[in-house]
Amino acid sequence: MMSGEYNVQELEELAEMIGEETLADTLDSYSCPLNPEVEDFLRHKARHSSKIGASVTYLVSGEDGALLGYFTLLLKAFQVEASRLTSANRHLIARFAELDTVHGLYNAAVYLIAQIGKNFTEGIDSQISGDVLLQLAFKILRRAQGLVGGKLVLVERECNRPKLLNFYKDNHFTSWNTRHSEHDGVDYDQMICNLGRKGLQVAGTENDRTKSEE
Ligand SMILES: CC(C)(COP(=O)(O)OP(=O)(O)OC[C@H]1O[C@@H](n2cnc3c(N)ncnc32)[C@H](O)[C@@H]1OP(=O)(O)O)[C@@H](O)C(=O)NCCC(=O)NCCS
Repeated sequence: MMSGEYNVQELEELAEMIGEETLADTLDSYSCPLNPEVEDFLRHKARHSSKIGASVTYLVSGEDGALLGYFTLLLKAFQVEASRLTSANRHLIARFAELDTVHGLYNAAVYLIAQIGKNFTEGIDSQISGDVLLQLAFKILRRAQGLVGGKLVLVERECNRPKLLNFYKDNHFTSWNTRHSEHDGVDYDQMICNLGRKGLQVAGTENDRTKSEE
């Protein structure tokens, strides 16, 4: 999918198009020293996760074909205590989530942006902003929304990375809940954005998409 000057390609489709060897070189060209997990996922786990249908990874490249960044999307069950939500958020989630009245929990299916990261190899990160990367992910999610519904988008930010808080806040996410992971011993700030909200599109991308798909 062309989106403005960016090309967004699903990982397995790309493998078919360019072949395994070239794809391996592309994945090897990705680095993300700010977040080694984001790097490790793309380089070593994304293919397997795609193949078993656990998530879908999209690579974003520029006009010259260089890998600028990527994101990984999936559906996720989201559970939150009703008492932790503001009345506005309770009102929002109550429209499509079930309330477990015994435990006071809302259970909702949400879209999760499981990974998102620019490519920091040789200064390539300057060719794309995080905002644009996020808008490209939203564009894919809006397509899913048009087919099967859904409204909320979740990101899980490590609480000890405050700069990411500003990044997500600036992009209309708000903190709903904190989750402690026993697995990695990390506290995550679960931030939610309402996909239905207006004003989240990258200027010009709708027209560009129409043009490229004609
Ligand atoms: C998150 C991201 C897409 C945002 O892109 P952006 O809006 O263009 O912003 P920048 O890359 O300029 O980063 C903004 C600031 O946050 C910092 N930052 C970004 N990711 C960070 C991380 N994982 N941990 C700590 N600091 C981080 C940057 O160092 C920068 O700090 P500065 O303003 O002091 O220079 C991009 O920074 C990125 O790819 N980060 C690494 C991957 C990542 O952490 N993804 C989020 C997982 S929840």
